[in-house]
Amino acid sequence: MSPRRLLWMFVAGLGAPAMLMHPPGSPLHAQSTSPVALRGHVSSAEERSMEGVIVTAKKTGSTIATSVVSSASGEFQFPAARLEPGSYTLRVRAVGYDLTSRGLVAIEPGRTTVADLTLDKTKNLTTQLTNAEWLASFPGTEAQKADIRGCAHCHSLELITRSRHTADEFVKIVERMSGYPPLAFPLMPQRTPSPRIGGGEIPRDRQLQIWQRQAEYLATLNLSGGNGLTYPLKTEPRPAGAATHVVYTTYDLPKPTRQPHDVIVDSHGIVWYASFGEQILGKLDPRTGKVTEYEIPILKPGAPMVRLWPFHEWKRIQSPCGRGSATMFGPGCAQVMQRLPEPSSAEM
Ligand code: HEC
Repeated sequence: MSPRRLLWMFVAGLGAPAMLMHPPGSPLHAQSTSPVALRGHVSSAEERSMEGVIVTAKKTGSTIATSVVSSASGEFQFPAARLEPGSYTLRVRAVGYDLTSRGLVAIEPGRTTVADLTLDKTKNLTTQLTNAEWLASFPGTEAQKADIRGCAHCHSLELITRSRHTADEFVKIVERMSGYPPLAFPLMPQRTPSPRIGGGEIPRDRQLQIWQRQAEYLATLNLSGGNGLTYPLKTEPRPAGAATHVVYTTYDLPKPTRQPHDVIVDSHGIVWYASFGEQILGKLDPRTGKVTEYEIPILKPGAPMVRLWPFHEWKRIQSPCGRGSATMFGPGCAQVMQRLPEPSSAEM
């Protein structure tokens, strides 16, 4: 799974916190009392039994996916309470590996399905790395890496490493990137009408020097040299021990442009989110996966989308990022209720 894809799903499981984390001493894998819908063993030729493989099951047609993590002996199991009967597709996350089968399984009422999974070394490691793994893999000094760390803010660093841009081309690209507001990303580019503030305006020739320095370093990280990537790829260790005692629930949101932000859970267990970069306030019922979304009116056409800050209970507020007004959203209401004067920075 690419890091980007995580942005339009989000891990909640908040409606059932007891299922989310199992305390040490009562690990999920040792539970024999609760019925098990699906269990199996994960292995590869290289490692034999594999610990820390995230195994995800998603029912055909569902927007909810459930994930568990394999134990030190490579075993995984899904509690029956978390997988209703039906046809499921399994996928795995273990950096460096792919699942060899299509991962189709059937869950039947009152029975435990057994699915042993075999993983092969991946041929596409570059598509599996997180931004942290890219930064760890990059050659160069800490200062050089720090200089381009901000490139990980809006998208995968793979966009850089799989490109063939030369240093000269990168100068133009870095300039283009500097014109995006923080909420832009490749599925939804938005231009900022004025330069980003902070630290005062930098003179153009000084700015060009900085872009040139970044561009020269960036061109050492990609395919512009014609010999593929010239540095070894480093990967993070997989989860181990207590970190494998967990059940994750992941919910798909209606569109891939959703970037759930400032997520809160209200006293009814309903999850509220703002889509970073869209005029949308959404609510998700974690028990059913049902999502309801509310369009927030555009206050200033042509400007990048506003940031929304949902607040607990009484105020679900659309903060305008300094664009003239805020909108209040009442508890349980399906519409925008009231426009307020712009909040002071202390309120934001
Ligand atoms: C504020 C958000 C943001 C930041 C920060 C950002 N990018 Fe981007 N990047 C985008 C968007 C949006 C796109 C897709 C539109 C485009 O290509 O202009 C993109 C696309 C790209 C692409 C693919 C398109 C191409 O021309 O090859 C590359 C490479 C890239 N960015 C490099 C960088 C580098 C290098 C940095 C750091 C200096 C950076 N980005 C920082 C938003 C950002």
